[in-house]
Amino acid sequence: MEPALLADPVKGYGALREQGRVVRGRFMDDSPVWIVTRFDDVREVLRDQRFVNNPAASQGGADDGPLGRLMETMGLPDEFRPYLLGSILNNDAPDHTRLRRLVSRAFTARKITDLRPRVERIADDLLARLPEHAENGAVDLIEHFAYPLPITVICELVGIPEADRPQWRAWGADLVSLEPGGLARSLPAMVAHIHELIRTRRASLTDDLLSELIRAHDDDGGRLSDVEMVTMVLTLVLAGHETTAHLIANGTAALLTHPDQLALLKSDPALLPRAVHELMRWCGPVQMTQLRYASEDLDLAGTPVRKGDSVLLTLVAANFDPRHYDAPERLDLTRHPAGHAENHVGFGHGMHYCLGATLARQETEVALGRLLAHYPDVSLAVRPDDLERAQLPGNWRLMALPLRL
Ligand code: HEM
Repeated sequence: MEPALLADPVKGYGALREQGRVVRGRFMDDSPVWIVTRFDDVREVLRDQRFVNNPAASQGGADDGPLGRLMETMGLPDEFRPYLLGSILNNDAPDHTRLRRLVSRAFTARKITDLRPRVERIADDLLARLPEHAENGAVDLIEHFAYPLPITVICELVGIPEADRPQWRAWGADLVSLEPGGLARSLPAMVAHIHELIRTRRASLTDDLLSELIRAHDDDGGRLSDVEMVTMVLTLVLAGHETTAHLIANGTAALLTHPDQLALLKSDPALLPRAVHELMRWCGPVQMTQLRYASEDLDLAGTPVRKGDSVLLTLVAANFDPRHYDAPERLDLTRHPAGHAENHVGFGHGMHYCLGATLARQETEVALGRLLAHYPDVSLAVRPDDLERAQLPGNWRLMALPLRL
């Protein structure tokens, strides 16, 4: 919550990175946390299974750690805690493996490639309607394109009816806002809504992900509990649109403020996949991982750490680590060699590497490619300095992205 870190995370976390491999800090609930900042160390910790995601497991079930305390501060009634703590992100093997296996089939490269024409169609429809939303000659890309595209895609995949989607968007915004009462208000409403959705869908299962989850729950007792089923829907829908929306927006803003890179991309649209890797590195919307917890006393990059201690991996500091990149501050769409795997940690690393990374990249490729095809002269409608960033720790989000088409 330090103003300097919120105002300029690249600079703020960069300064921490240069202080040392491991820095002592405080989490949002004011508890102490070890901060790991350098590219190699971040990847190493994310691969090291002595660091776990479930706080209770690391402490013999004693308490829910900083995350639990944060939920208490935010006024979330106790009975709703499992819906957050039971998520795939807060579990370790073997539960994590079981949960991930259940959903990973829907996100294979092949499945995502099959989805591409549908994503293009949704993007084209939204783009064709953009001028209708102009006010004083400017359109907010976030409101009318960057959000609606991924939320439509993930809701179609999961099987959330169209009429419910605006409500989901409002809940998502409430949940990430960290505003007093936001979580306590929205989570119970979402849980009730998903239970109702499951009840209805059970009567006529289809081939959507929700039906898959219901089958896994009903057919084979024990593969998926009630809470896990609801939590998975919640996680997929929220993780599946909030982040991607902001990558599309941040990426567009980055291109429009770097005319040389924009010209390069326009002259060579085949550069798009590499460009999206670089935009993820340079302005990825998720700047730190969930907390990890030491499951035993251990050495963390030269620092002795005690069992139960929490560790924060700052992806933004790692993605700008001069030990790993030449001129990391430079946006260079050709930085990532063609055909090679991504060279950044914006989607995390290791067991919890983002399940939706291929989907998010594809949506962003389609979004940027189609935006430039529909509106080749698109430009910012405000000065770059007037783009307002949300003051949310660990996130890079613009409040709005006003464009002239
Ligand atoms: C995990 C970022 C899009 C679903 C993660 C993690 C990061 C991340 C950093 C790892 C967190 C950690 O290790 O603590 C992003 C970004 C996205 C994006 C920057 C968009 C630009 C998506 C999409 C989905 C998704 C579209 C849709 C399915 C998930 C899930 C996990 C995850 C389910 C947890 C995986 C696990 O615990 O095994 N994401 N994500 N994400 N992401 Fe994404």
